[in-house]
Amino acid sequence: MKLMKVLIVLMLVVFASTAVLASEGGNSRKGKYLYKKNCKTCHVAGAEGGELTPLSKTQMQWDRFFEKNKHKKNPDAWSKFSDKDLQDVNQFLYDHAVDSDQPETCG
Ligand code: HEC
Repeated sequence: MKLMKVLIVLMLVVFASTAVLASEGGNSRKGKYLYKKNCKTCHVAGAEGGELTPLSKTQMQWDRFFEKNKHKKNPDAWSKFSDKDLQDVNQFLYDHAVDSDQPETCG
């Protein structure tokens, strides 16, 4: 009986950790670095893209931007980035969006 309990607990742990992994589309920490490196060059106040921070949009708006809009106002800038990098940036912006648990401006 004891073994059965241990097995059930183990299964729950495995299940819970895969669920967390599955909900994380990209790597937010890497996304923050990539955002600063790739996006901030054009997206600070006064630059051509205008100021942009995670707080500029809601989580849903960020996901839609990355899925549908894909930077259509300036597709050339976008085409330089790999899908993986964009996924990480998307995750970072999503995690710190204006309606997220941890809104962040990213200085
Ligand atoms: C080469 C310059 C450049 C780079 C690099 C760049 N952008 Fe842009 N971005 C622009 C310009 C120009 C616009 C159009 C601004 C406008 O319409 O006033 C724009 C528009 C946007 C918009 C639309 C803002 C709105 O009106 O809702 C978003 C969001 C955005 N960029 C995100 C990003 C992200 C995320 C990255 C990095 C992965 C990035 N941009 C990299 C130049 C750039």
